[in-house]
Amino acid sequence: MATDSMTPFPGLRPFGEEEDYLFFGREDQTNDLLKLLRTQRFLAVVGTSGSGKSSLVRAGMLPALYGGTMAGAGSDWETVVFRPGGDPLLNLAEAMIAADLYDPEDAEAPFRIRATLSRSRQGLVQAVEYSDLPRESNLLIVVDQFEELFRYRGVSGKHQEQASAFVKLLLNAARTEDRSIFVVITMRSDYLGDCAHLSGLAEAVNDGKYLIPKLTRDQRRDAIVKPAAVGGGKISESLVQQLLNDVGEDADQLPILQHALMRIWDFWQQDHDEGEPVALRHYDAVGGIANALSNHADEVYDDLPTEESRGLARKVFQAITERGGDERGIRRPTRMDKLCEIVAATPEDVSIILDAYRQVGRTFVMPLEGTEITAETVVDISHESLMRVWRRLSRWVEEESQNARVYTRLSETASLYHRDLAGVYRDPDLAIALSWREQAQPNGAWARRYREGFTEAIKFLEESYETTHAEEIAKEESRERELEQAKLVASLQARAKKRLSVLLGCIAIALVASVIMYVDSLEQREVAVESRAEAEKSAAESQRLAKE
Ligand SMILES: Nc1ncnc2c1ncn2[C@@H]1O[C@H](COP(=O)(O)OP(=O)(O)OP(=O)(O)O)[C@@H](O)[C@H]1O
Ligand SMILES: [Mg+2]
Repeated sequence: MATDSMTPFPGLRPFGEEEDYLFFGREDQTNDLLKLLRTQRFLAVVGTSGSGKSSLVRAGMLPALYGGTMAGAGSDWETVVFRPGGDPLLNLAEAMIAADLYDPEDAEAPFRIRATLSRSRQGLVQAVEYSDLPRESNLLIVVDQFEELFRYRGVSGKHQEQASAFVKLLLNAARTEDRSIFVVITMRSDYLGDCAHLSGLAEAVNDGKYLIPKLTRDQRRDAIVKPAAVGGGKISESLVQQLLNDVGEDADQLPILQHALMRIWDFWQQDHDEGEPVALRHYDAVGGIANALSNHADEVYDDLPTEESRGLARKVFQAITERGGDERGIRRPTRMDKLCEIVAATPEDVSIILDAYRQVGRTFVMPLEGTEITAETVVDISHESLMRVWRRLSRWVEEESQNARVYTRLSETASLYHRDLAGVYRDPDLAIALSWREQAQPNGAWARRYREGFTEAIKFLEESYETTHAEEIAKEESRERELEQAKLVASLQARAKKRLSVLLGCIAIALVASVIMYVDSLEQREVAVESRAEAEKSAAESQRLAKE
């Protein structure tokens, strides 16, 4: 089994500071950045998702600074690298401690520094003054994934204030004459427009913007061939050509290429003859560029120990991803304690999932193996491209977005209902909401990410159910009553009909009898007449005989 140190390709995650010896193809851009930094103390590295911003700054620019490449600035650099997340001031304070600017043993330090940072616009300069940083040292503050500042904005109103205070701290620190402080931010270009909402930021970005170019075909070739050579291997020319052709101009080309390379390399390590280079057969075995990532993530899913853990994996990934407004997925870094609350599972159970996806050779989830996950650790997918390329995850993301829509609508209607502006839910909305509750089993922690008022919404749903249920029962009862009546009428009618037919039968019989009797009487009359005539004839005969 390969170990990460033997794998010269980082997979989905960005290159780290200490991986400059594996980082190729960005030499020109690194020099461009250093040139800019000579004149600008505030620099914004912008580009599309996955274009390599974080890697360029971390593995290109920082090592070059330490190496003293930036003319006139010396090599005495201290760097603070962090992501702003939901609490930029606290994250900055913690990063300053991690960079050894303060005593790491001081448990109170993060909160004390945070308090200094939030005290005034010069808070960052003051925090640096109070630190152990020698006066003559340069300080570079790297705010990676700066767009998180805008992404968290919707969550609470307080965040807007915090974001604005945070930006003022950075801008003032970069302007100060007292210290040599530089600020570099990396940000998705889609968020450039948002900068205008924070005072002074648009101007600063305009002055020091660096739009990261796409790697050329030759630079991509370097990014494939050179790390392999560092790792002690060789990639066959036919595979290099195949990779360059297959990766094409796709927007996610770098993360997809990196992941495929990591997989191919791992496969090659386990299966190659003496002197055999990494070849097309290794590439085909992992499913090619088109399927390597999706197949790999599915394999991890299928290998999870139980059906329950697979169900939990779905919830975990749904919690740390989000479908953005533009229908593209975005990541949603989430603290471990909050994640456990959202998915309603213990840290042990959630760790089984995370460990499976973050172990060596599987860089799907951050932090990677080797970093302990505590309640405060922020869990994140390593790159958005995972959401676009792993087919199962894109289905989950779609499902989560449907669930969020059903809940938001329910919760909005519940608020209107309480203000007498809407009635209870009825079908089909009711049926949809009931099936959502049954299948998604939502809880307050989950719902809070979309809209407050979960308890109220669920109460409204139950009330809607009871009201419509009671109405249905009443309707059913009235239908049954109608049916009974109809049955009664039908049976009365049937009885009357029967009586009539009996009567008619009797009449018919009587009629037949009287006809028979009549005919009989006629016959008897005829006999009587005949007898009479006979008698008269005999009498006449007797008389005639007597006369004679
Ligand atoms: N020069 C390079 N050579 C090869 N792979 C690279 C290079 N630069 C970046 N990558 C790879 O591209 C992917 C994206 O890199 P990175 O995270 O640095 O980009 P980003 O622009 O910061 O992304 P995001 O928009 O998510 O912040 C990662 O998989 C990384 O390993
Ligand atoms: Mg980045």
